[in-house]
Amino acid sequence: MLSSQIAVFPDAPAVAGEAARRWVEVARDAIAARGVFTVALAGGSTPETLYRLLAGPAYADAAMWARTQIFFGDERCVSPDDPHSNYRLAREALLDHAPIPTAHIFRMRGELPGPEAVADYAETLHREFALSPGDLPRFDLILLGIGTDGHTASLFPTMPALEAEALVAYSAVPSYVNPNVARITLTLPTLNAAAHVLFQVTGAGKAPAVRDALAGHAAADPSPAGRVRPTNGVLAWLLDADAASLLPPAR
Ligand code: 6PG
Repeated sequence: MLSSQIAVFPDAPAVAGEAARRWVEVARDAIAARGVFTVALAGGSTPETLYRLLAGPAYADAAMWARTQIFFGDERCVSPDDPHSNYRLAREALLDHAPIPTAHIFRMRGELPGPEAVADYAETLHREFALSPGDLPRFDLILLGIGTDGHTASLFPTMPALEAEALVAYSAVPSYVNPNVARITLTLPTLNAAAHVLFQVTGAGKAPAVRDALAGHAAADPSPAGRVRPTNGVLAWLLDADAASLLPPAR
């Protein structure tokens, strides 16, 4: 059963503040229920504000961080210290500051050849989620962003990874994408198996993609982001006023 929520905030800091609040809420419920909180981080630049907030004193909850397992929704095929690495951004903004056990941080190894990186991460998911063949990992929380073309994670329109049925896929990127490097990404089945999916989107430039993605739930050809609909989970879109500016008035 899907329950989806759209929440609009005045600006990007308010979006990040709400995302942090929801992170803690999901984390504490997961830890209370199972003793662990599994989260896949979003790439790109939008989540940096959230990561720096979570690294700050307001979220210095040692018990929560000790039981948090960090995964990634996607990664560029670069070394982990490359300026384009999603891991590098997360490390600098959050992972170097929050008391997360190093053994609980599961990086996508984008520096490996594509097929090796995919197999490596799929094996990580099978191990850490104790999956049987054919199972999907059920992340407690997956953070996502959206590109102006409607891509999410590294699932781009027209690219084969969008239709992949495996847990993890390798993807080239369309010529217009910057940085124009290949990617490793969780796939739609994996995203849609999550208990909670949280989009953070800010800026007027994303308004058309947000409109299309949210309409996409009923459209014949939804964008990649429009196809993220957790099978049995919560889908939330946290938007600033600019990113929400093309949505129909709330009923
Ligand atoms: C990536 C991300 C990607 C990102 C969107 C939005 O690796 O680039 O996973 O899906 O979320 O492109 O990026 P911004 O937040 O930088 O606008």
